[in-house]
Amino acid sequence: MPRTESLVSHFECYDCGRRYDLDHTEFPCPACGGILDPRYDYDSLTTTRDEIEARDGSMWKYRELLPIRNDDDIVSLGEGNTPMIDCPELADEMGVARVTIKDEGQNPTNTFKDRGASASISGASQQDVEEVAIPSAGNAGQAAAAYAARAGIDCHVVLNYQSNDIQKTMVEVHGADLHLVDGKLDKAGGRFGELRDEHDWYTVATFQTPFRHEGKKTMGLEIFEQFDWEGPDGIFYPTGGGVGLIGIWKAYQELAELGWLEDETPPSLHVAQSSGCAPVVEAINEQRTEHTPWDCPESIGRGIEVPDPGASPWMLEAVYETGGTGVAVTDEEALEGALAGARHAGIEMCVEPGAALAAAEQMAEEGELDEDDEILIINTGAGNKATDALSYAMK
Ligand SMILES: Cc1ncc(COP(=O)(O)O)c(C=O)c1O
Ligand SMILES: [Zn+2]
Repeated sequence: MPRTESLVSHFECYDCGRRYDLDHTEFPCPACGGILDPRYDYDSLTTTRDEIEARDGSMWKYRELLPIRNDDDIVSLGEGNTPMIDCPELADEMGVARVTIKDEGQNPTNTFKDRGASASISGASQQDVEEVAIPSAGNAGQAAAAYAARAGIDCHVVLNYQSNDIQKTMVEVHGADLHLVDGKLDKAGGRFGELRDEHDWYTVATFQTPFRHEGKKTMGLEIFEQFDWEGPDGIFYPTGGGVGLIGIWKAYQELAELGWLEDETPPSLHVAQSSGCAPVVEAINEQRTEHTPWDCPESIGRGIEVPDPGASPWMLEAVYETGGTGVAVTDEEALEGALAGARHAGIEMCVEPGAALAAAEQMAEEGELDEDDEILIINTGAGNKATDALSYAMK
């Protein structure tokens, strides 16, 4: 079988440090319930930065830094390699040197979740798994269904009735088995746990699988490459479970370790959340190293309506180590942010990334951004995922 030249060596538990072989399928860490993280043998890398830059194609151009060993196990729909779009009007408005938006809406199922799904379904293929399962607010479930269909793997998706019609419909269009439950994400997670234990399903849930944050890591690798290996000054990320935030943080650490960065100062990683569900922002404001679960979450940005994100210690490490902050915005502000992206830059955004843009605007208004700052906003999902909310916002 052709090899990917991946440098992956093993999984290591972020929480207790135990090591597991790559064929280990019991996620999360059986010893402590912690997050398993793929680790790499960076010293063996022979590929150069220039060689990677010369490659085109999907996120798999960074295959040496991804945990899949054989080409045949890669399940891809051309995800990644998304554009970095300059937004001078927004930069003028915020009084900063440069605003760019990385448009993850241009991925195959229109969100950045495709990167995690490509990596986790490839991981399932590598581990000879024929059936996977995931609870989701909507987008991750849709992405998993698409990649599982491509791989010929059976997929079970647990969503809430509140997930939007596109997400629910497309899960079934891809041939996955859809389970709908009342309530919010915690209920979907609860039901998922029961079904997983009952049927012994292989999990591709957030931070249960060790593969999803690796896929999202490619977003960070691309950001540094697109910023000529220097990175912007600050990155605004709409934060739910934190998979993308941690992926970007890991990308920075890897590139620093490889000596590929022109400037070793990390970009400040700013957590944007909804004021209706802001457990990570609250922890940052109180300088804590772990969140307190949020009672009664309420936001129309369902992807960031995550009341009890298990990876908060890792997210908070990323924020504190990079000099980042936490900003909570209302749903109205998030919708206005999405409209601003569409009207001032032509970029179609759903509600969650609208919160990230609104968070940057809030920091600019409060004088917390410098006039020579270059900032990046991640458009995690396209406007077509939220047309109802966006049309409501225009009234
Ligand atoms: C559009 C969108 N943005 C942001 C998020 C939050 O992602 P993460 O879990 O990586 O924090 C989600 C998660 O569902 C999402 O769908
Ligand atoms: Zn552990």
